[in-house]
Amino acid sequence: MTVHFIGAGPGAPDLLTLRGRDLIAASPICLYAGSLVPAQVLEHCPPGARIVNTAPMDLDAIIAEIAEAHAAGHDVARLHSGDLSVWSAMGEQLRRLRALDIPFTVTPGVPAFAAAAAALEAELTLPALAQSLVLTRTPGRASTMPPTENLTNFAATGATLAIHLSVHNLERVVADLAPVYGADCPVAVVWRASWPDQRIVRATLKTIEAAVAGSMERTALILVGRVLAAEDFGESSLYAKDYDRRFRPQHAGSRYAGSVE
Ligand SMILES: C[S@@+](CC[C@H](N)C(=O)[O-])C[C@H]1O[C@@H](n2cnc3c(N)ncnc32)[C@H](O)[C@@H]1O
Repeated sequence: MTVHFIGAGPGAPDLLTLRGRDLIAASPICLYAGSLVPAQVLEHCPPGARIVNTAPMDLDAIIAEIAEAHAAGHDVARLHSGDLSVWSAMGEQLRRLRALDIPFTVTPGVPAFAAAAAALEAELTLPALAQSLVLTRTPGRASTMPPTENLTNFAATGATLAIHLSVHNLERVVADLAPVYGADCPVAVVWRASWPDQRIVRATLKTIEAAVAGSMERTALILVGRVLAAEDFGESSLYAKDYDRRFRPQHAGSRYAGSVE
Protein backbone atom coordinates (compact mmCIF):
# COMPACT_ATOMS: atom_id res chain seq x y z
CA MET A 1 0.00 0.00 0.00
CA THR A 2 1.28 3.48 -0.91
CA VAL A 3 -0.03 7.03 -0.58
CA HIS A 4 0.62 8.91 -3.82
CA PHE A 5 0.83 12.68 -3.30
CA ILE A 6 0.01 14.22 -6.67
CA GLY A 7 0.16 17.83 -7.84
CA ALA A 8 -3.20 18.25 -9.58
CA GLY A 9 -2.22 21.40 -11.49
CA PRO A 10 -3.74 24.89 -11.61
CA GLY A 11 -7.24 23.98 -12.76
CA ALA A 12 -7.38 22.84 -16.37
CA PRO A 13 -7.83 19.06 -16.18
CA ASP A 14 -5.34 18.47 -19.00
CA LEU A 15 -2.59 20.23 -17.05
CA LEU A 16 -2.10 17.09 -14.97
CA THR A 17 1.01 14.95 -15.56
CA LEU A 18 0.59 11.55 -17.21
CA ARG A 19 2.13 9.98 -14.12
CA GLY A 20 -0.38 11.75 -11.89
CA ARG A 21 -3.28 10.64 -14.08
CA ASP A 22 -2.10 7.01 -14.07
CA LEU A 23 -1.63 6.94 -10.29
CA ILE A 24 -5.13 8.35 -9.76
CA ALA A 25 -6.52 5.69 -12.11
CA ALA A 26 -4.73 2.93 -10.19
CA SER A 27 -5.77 4.03 -6.67
CA PRO A 28 -9.07 2.80 -5.18
CA ILE A 29 -9.12 5.75 -2.75
CA CYS A 30 -8.76 9.42 -3.67
CA LEU A 31 -8.41 12.23 -1.11
CA TYR A 32 -8.56 15.65 -2.71
CA ALA A 33 -8.32 19.23 -1.49
CA GLY A 34 -11.74 20.27 -2.73
CA SER A 35 -11.35 24.04 -2.68
CA LEU A 36 -9.07 24.11 -5.74
CA VAL A 37 -8.87 20.66 -7.38
CA PRO A 38 -11.26 20.59 -10.35
CA ALA A 39 -13.95 17.92 -10.56
CA GLN A 40 -12.76 16.72 -14.00
CA VAL A 41 -9.48 15.50 -12.49
CA LEU A 42 -11.53 13.13 -10.33
CA GLU A 43 -12.93 11.52 -13.49
CA HIS A 44 -9.62 9.62 -13.69
CA CYS A 45 -10.53 7.69 -10.51
CA PRO A 46 -11.39 4.03 -11.17
CA PRO A 47 -15.06 2.97 -11.06
CA GLY A 48 -16.25 2.51 -7.48
CA ALA A 49 -13.36 4.49 -5.98
CA ARG A 50 -13.88 6.07 -2.60
CA ILE A 51 -13.52 9.81 -3.26
CA VAL A 52 -13.17 12.09 -0.24
CA ASN A 53 -13.06 15.90 -0.21
CA THR A 54 -10.64 16.80 2.58
CA ALA A 55 -11.50 20.52 2.61
CA PRO A 56 -13.74 20.22 5.70
CA MET A 57 -11.46 17.71 7.51
CA ASP A 58 -8.67 18.35 10.03
CA LEU A 59 -5.22 16.74 9.84
CA ASP A 60 -6.08 14.00 12.37
CA ALA A 61 -9.14 12.97 10.33
CA ILE A 62 -7.11 12.92 7.08
CA ILE A 63 -4.41 10.76 8.63
CA ALA A 64 -7.06 8.45 10.13
CA GLU A 65 -8.53 8.01 6.62
CA ILE A 66 -5.06 7.15 5.26
CA ALA A 67 -4.28 4.78 8.17
CA GLU A 68 -7.54 2.94 7.50
CA ALA A 69 -6.60 2.53 3.83
CA HIS A 70 -3.16 1.34 4.91
CA ALA A 71 -4.68 -1.31 7.19
CA ALA A 72 -6.87 -2.52 4.30
CA GLY A 73 -3.92 -2.52 1.86
CA HIS A 74 -5.47 0.09 -0.47
CA ASP A 75 -3.40 2.66 -2.38
CA VAL A 76 -4.43 6.28 -1.92
CA ALA A 77 -4.17 9.14 -4.44
CA ARG A 78 -3.74 12.36 -2.43
CA LEU A 79 -4.41 15.43 -4.62
CA HIS A 80 -3.41 19.00 -3.95
CA SER A 81 -3.73 21.92 -6.36
CA GLY A 82 -0.79 23.13 -8.44
CA ASP A 83 2.51 21.67 -7.30
CA LEU A 84 3.12 20.08 -3.92
CA SER A 85 6.26 22.04 -3.08
CA VAL A 86 4.43 25.25 -2.18
CA TRP A 87 1.46 25.85 0.15
CA SER A 88 0.14 22.30 -0.09
CA ALA A 89 0.33 21.23 3.59
CA MET A 90 2.11 18.11 2.30
CA GLY A 91 5.00 18.56 4.75
CA GLU A 92 2.91 17.93 7.85
CA GLN A 93 1.20 14.92 6.25
CA LEU A 94 4.54 13.36 5.25
CA ARG A 95 5.84 13.82 8.79
CA ARG A 96 2.85 11.89 10.17
CA LEU A 97 3.20 9.14 7.53
CA ARG A 98 6.91 8.71 8.27
CA ALA A 99 6.07 8.34 11.99
CA LEU A 100 3.45 5.69 11.12
CA ASP A 101 5.78 3.94 8.66
CA ILE A 102 3.27 4.35 5.82
CA PRO A 103 4.96 4.45 2.38
CA PHE A 104 4.37 7.35 0.00
CA THR A 105 5.47 8.84 -3.34
CA VAL A 106 5.44 12.47 -4.54
CA THR A 107 4.50 13.47 -8.12
CA PRO A 108 4.92 17.13 -9.09
CA GLY A 109 2.27 19.27 -10.75
CA VAL A 110 2.04 22.48 -12.79
CA PRO A 111 2.14 25.35 -10.27
CA ALA A 112 -0.23 28.33 -10.42
CA PHE A 113 2.60 30.79 -11.13
CA ALA A 114 3.53 28.86 -14.29
CA ALA A 115 -0.09 28.77 -15.46
CA ALA A 116 -0.43 32.50 -14.79
CA ALA A 117 2.79 33.27 -16.69
CA ALA A 118 1.51 31.16 -19.60
CA ALA A 119 -1.78 33.06 -19.57
CA LEU A 120 0.21 36.30 -19.75
CA GLU A 121 2.48 34.84 -22.47
CA ALA A 122 5.34 36.10 -20.33
CA GLU A 123 8.86 34.99 -19.46
CA LEU A 124 9.39 36.05 -15.86
CA THR A 125 13.19 36.16 -16.11
CA LEU A 126 14.50 38.41 -18.87
CA PRO A 127 18.17 39.23 -19.49
CA ALA A 128 19.41 42.04 -17.23
CA LEU A 129 15.87 42.94 -16.08
CA ALA A 130 15.17 40.12 -13.63
CA GLN A 131 16.92 36.81 -13.18
CA SER A 132 15.05 35.72 -10.08
CA LEU A 133 11.45 34.93 -9.29
CA VAL A 134 10.18 35.12 -5.71
CA LEU A 135 7.19 32.95 -4.86
CA THR A 136 5.67 34.53 -1.81
CA ARG A 137 2.49 35.58 -0.02
CA THR A 138 1.30 38.11 2.55
CA PRO A 139 0.28 37.04 6.06
CA GLY A 140 -3.10 35.38 6.35
CA ARG A 141 -5.56 34.54 9.12
CA ALA A 142 -4.00 31.12 9.60
CA SER A 143 -0.42 31.94 8.62
CA THR A 144 2.08 34.42 9.97
CA MET A 145 5.25 35.19 8.01
CA PRO A 146 8.82 34.83 9.27
CA PRO A 147 9.84 38.42 10.12
CA THR A 148 12.40 38.94 7.34
CA GLU A 149 10.10 37.53 4.64
CA ASN A 150 8.25 40.71 3.77
CA LEU A 151 7.51 42.34 0.42
CA THR A 152 9.77 45.30 1.11
CA ASN A 153 12.76 43.01 1.58
CA PHE A 154 11.96 40.98 -1.52
CA ALA A 155 11.39 44.14 -3.56
CA ALA A 156 14.84 45.40 -2.62
CA THR A 157 16.28 42.67 -4.88
CA GLY A 158 14.34 43.87 -7.93
CA ALA A 159 13.22 40.30 -8.64
CA THR A 160 9.91 39.44 -10.28
CA LEU A 161 7.37 38.66 -7.55
CA ALA A 162 4.61 36.05 -7.72
CA ILE A 163 2.39 36.88 -4.76
CA HIS A 164 -0.04 34.14 -3.76
CA LEU A 165 -3.01 34.12 -1.39
CA SER A 166 -3.09 37.92 -1.33
CA VAL A 167 -5.57 39.38 -3.81
CA HIS A 168 -7.74 40.49 -0.85
CA ASN A 169 -4.68 42.36 0.40
CA LEU A 170 -3.91 44.35 -2.74
CA GLU A 171 -3.86 47.70 -0.97
CA ARG A 172 -1.09 46.46 1.34
CA VAL A 173 0.85 44.92 -1.56
CA VAL A 174 0.80 48.23 -3.43
CA ALA A 175 1.75 50.24 -0.34
CA ASP A 176 4.79 48.00 0.28
CA LEU A 177 5.99 47.76 -3.30
CA ALA A 178 5.35 51.15 -4.91
CA PRO A 179 8.08 52.98 -2.94
CA VAL A 180 10.68 50.45 -4.16
CA TYR A 181 9.54 49.45 -7.67
CA GLY A 182 7.93 52.78 -8.56
CA ALA A 183 4.26 53.50 -9.15
CA ASP A 184 4.66 52.80 -12.88
CA CYS A 185 5.90 49.23 -12.33
CA PRO A 186 3.75 46.74 -14.28
CA VAL A 187 1.44 44.39 -12.37
CA ALA A 188 -0.81 41.61 -13.60
CA VAL A 189 -3.46 39.79 -11.61
CA VAL A 190 -4.50 36.45 -13.06
CA TRP A 191 -7.68 34.95 -11.65
CA ARG A 192 -8.27 31.21 -12.08
CA ALA A 193 -5.39 30.74 -14.52
CA SER A 194 -6.15 27.91 -16.98
CA TRP A 195 -9.82 27.63 -15.93
CA PRO A 196 -12.44 28.32 -18.63
CA ASP A 197 -13.41 31.57 -16.89
CA GLN A 198 -9.81 32.78 -16.42
CA ARG A 199 -9.46 36.56 -16.16
CA ILE A 200 -6.44 38.83 -16.49
CA VAL A 201 -6.07 42.41 -15.32
CA ARG A 202 -2.94 44.28 -16.37
CA ALA A 203 -2.10 47.62 -14.80
CA THR A 204 0.64 49.35 -12.80
CA LEU A 205 1.20 49.57 -9.08
CA LYS A 206 -0.55 52.93 -9.23
CA THR A 207 -3.64 51.70 -11.08
CA ILE A 208 -4.04 48.03 -10.12
CA GLU A 209 -6.40 48.50 -7.17
CA ALA A 210 -8.86 50.52 -9.22
CA ALA A 211 -8.51 48.09 -12.14
CA VAL A 212 -9.31 45.03 -10.01
CA ALA A 213 -11.85 46.93 -7.90
CA GLY A 214 -12.53 43.96 -5.65
CA SER A 215 -13.74 41.89 -8.61
CA MET A 216 -11.36 38.98 -7.98
CA GLU A 217 -11.39 36.79 -4.90
CA ARG A 218 -9.25 33.95 -3.60
CA THR A 219 -7.86 32.05 -6.60
CA ALA A 220 -5.78 34.85 -8.04
CA LEU A 221 -2.07 35.43 -8.41
CA ILE A 222 -0.42 38.86 -8.37
CA LEU A 223 2.66 39.17 -10.55
CA VAL A 224 4.83 42.26 -10.20
CA GLY A 225 7.95 43.26 -12.12
CA ARG A 226 9.44 45.16 -15.04
CA VAL A 227 9.52 41.95 -17.10
CA LEU A 228 5.74 42.12 -17.50
CA ALA A 229 5.77 45.01 -19.93
CA ALA A 230 9.31 44.88 -21.26
CA GLU A 231 10.06 44.91 -24.96
CA ASP A 232 13.40 46.64 -24.63
CA PHE A 233 15.59 43.88 -23.22
CA GLY A 234 18.77 42.22 -24.44
CA GLU A 235 18.88 38.79 -26.01
CA SER A 236 20.34 35.96 -23.95
CA SER A 237 23.81 34.65 -24.82
CA LEU A 238 22.40 31.17 -25.14
CA TYR A 239 21.34 31.56 -28.77
CA ALA A 240 23.86 34.24 -29.76
CA LYS A 241 25.71 33.30 -32.99
CA ASP A 242 29.18 33.63 -31.50
CA TYR A 243 28.52 32.03 -28.11
CA ASP A 244 30.63 28.90 -27.70
CA ARG A 245 28.73 26.20 -25.91
CA ARG A 246 28.53 22.47 -25.50
CA PHE A 247 25.78 21.81 -28.02
CA ARG A 248 26.95 24.38 -30.61
CA PRO A 249 30.77 24.62 -30.57
CA GLN A 250 31.92 27.60 -32.66
CA HIS A 251 35.36 26.42 -33.84
CA ALA A 252 37.62 23.39 -33.88
CA GLY A 253 39.57 24.67 -30.87
CA SER A 254 36.44 25.11 -28.85
CA ARG A 255 36.55 23.63 -25.38
CA TYR A 256 33.39 21.79 -26.47
CA ALA A 257 34.57 20.61 -29.93
CA GLY A 258 34.08 16.85 -30.27
CA SER A 259 32.18 16.69 -27.00
CA VAL A 260 29.58 13.96 -26.98
CA GLU A 261 28.06 14.67 -23.57
C1 LIG B 1 -2.92 27.22 -1.20
S1 LIG B 1 -2.12 28.03 -2.52
C2 LIG B 1 -1.76 26.65 -3.55
C3 LIG B 1 -0.58 26.87 -4.46
C4 LIG B 1 -0.31 25.65 -5.30
N1 LIG B 1 0.23 24.56 -4.51
C5 LIG B 1 0.64 25.95 -6.47
O1 LIG B 1 1.54 25.15 -6.74
O2 LIG B 1 0.46 26.96 -7.14
C6 LIG B 1 -3.46 28.80 -3.32
C7 LIG B 1 -3.06 30.08 -4.00
O3 LIG B 1 -2.39 29.78 -5.21
C8 LIG B 1 -2.81 30.67 -6.21
N2 LIG B 1 -3.53 29.89 -7.24
C9 LIG B 1 -3.82 28.57 -7.24
N3 LIG B 1 -4.41 28.20 -8.39
C10 LIG B 1 -4.50 29.32 -9.14
C11 LIG B 1 -5.00 29.60 -10.44
N4 LIG B 1 -5.52 28.64 -11.22
N5 LIG B 1 -4.93 30.88 -10.89
C12 LIG B 1 -4.39 31.85 -10.14
N6 LIG B 1 -3.89 31.65 -8.91
C13 LIG B 1 -3.95 30.41 -8.41
C14 LIG B 1 -3.69 31.72 -5.58
O4 LIG B 1 -2.87 32.78 -5.14
C15 LIG B 1 -4.24 30.96 -4.40
O5 LIG B 1 -4.61 31.84 -3.36
